[in-house]
Amino acid sequence: MADLKLTNVAKVYGGTVEVLKGINLDITTGELIVFVGPSGCGKSTLLRMIAGLEKISEGTLEIDGTVVNDVPPAQRGIAMVFQSYALYPHMTVRDNMAFALKLAKNSATEIDEAITRAARVLQLEDYLDRLPKALSGGQRQRVAIGRSIVRDPKVYLFDEPLSNLDASLRVATRIEIAQLKESMPDSTMIYVTHDQVEAMTLASRIVVLANKGIAQVGTPLELYETPENEFVAQFIGSPAMNLLAGEVVKTGKTTTVKVHDGGGTITANIPTTDNDMGLAVNVGIRPEDMIPATGDNHAFKDTVSIAEALGEVTQVYFEPPKAGQNKDTVIAKLAGIHHGLRGQEMTLTADPSKVHLFSNGQSLLYR
Ligand SMILES: Nc1ncnc2c1ncn2[C@@H]1O[C@H](COP(=O)(O)OP(=O)(O)OP(=O)(O)O)[C@@H](O)[C@H]1O
Ligand SMILES: [Mg+2]
Repeated sequence: MADLKLTNVAKVYGGTVEVLKGINLDITTGELIVFVGPSGCGKSTLLRMIAGLEKISEGTLEIDGTVVNDVPPAQRGIAMVFQSYALYPHMTVRDNMAFALKLAKNSATEIDEAITRAARVLQLEDYLDRLPKALSGGQRQRVAIGRSIVRDPKVYLFDEPLSNLDASLRVATRIEIAQLKESMPDSTMIYVTHDQVEAMTLASRIVVLANKGIAQVGTPLELYETPENEFVAQFIGSPAMNLLAGEVVKTGKTTTVKVHDGGGTITANIPTTDNDMGLAVNVGIRPEDMIPATGDNHAFKDTVSIAEALGEVTQVYFEPPKAGQNKDTVIAKLAGIHHGLRGQEMTLTADPSKVHLFSNGQSLLYR
């Protein structure tokens, strides 16, 4: 087992470049935590600090209650799998996996057992005597994972392990990683990815990193359904959540907002008080939650500039904002096939249970 606790962790490169600060995170044995965030936000840095490959500038990292800031990487019980898996090309799969164990002077029997177990889990039994050049990209990536499994670490760290693979292999390997996790309920995994589907499907909890800190931690569906702020709202989900500026015109158990550009009103199942009358808010609606509206009760009215028919859905892009409007281009994802939308004016709304409200970037749900 391995519980990880990060308390007020910060990273400063070269004494001046602050990359991360105030990172507080509790990870329990058996979790698969996914780090996501924009490029350069510090995901790899945080992973490398946990592995011990990078010094922790401030704060503490505990593994099972012991501070390990000064414990060398090899003694932390952590294995890290990188994006570029760099197998030894002249060694067979078996020898690649055995390498670290031989260095650590394990007995031949121990090495054999560890490799047999890892090869079974990763379905590499038929490939043990091959050289890496005779393997597919996905198989090579599995060997790289195998090299870490044989060491039986308490914690696995994956830094974008699938990003070198083509789309179909990514899907297959992603499912294998999910199965691997199932087969090792006592191991803790931290996984960095840019891929939304990987994050949503693999994670027990997702950590969204931004602006040197943590923007939100939660289960995939918590982040999708109840994002704490506009950053998370727009980062999770694709295309990003639409934000429409408006002001509160009715308060109570539900809240009604008059939208500035597009003219209508929309109601959200979010409570507000009398004090919130007139409050400037952004109405958040996911493209997949937009539905055609009738009458005045619509969030949005505009002309369709592009309609992309993908078969299962039609992705509709509205006119880009004109001068003086404070909205971004609005996108709607309508179920099924729709012909002749281009150039048409559409009015759209959303179910009150699917409407998000933000004030100064923060969700009104979390006040
Ligand atoms: N050795 C270093 N010295 C100075 N700055 C560094 C060093 N390593 C990384 N950085 C900076 O720290 C920031 C975070 O880098 P990091 O590699 O952790 O980002 P990331 O979130 O993993 O990005 P990506 O998604 O592109 O992999 C970046 O701005 C990067 O330029
Ligand atoms: Mg990185």
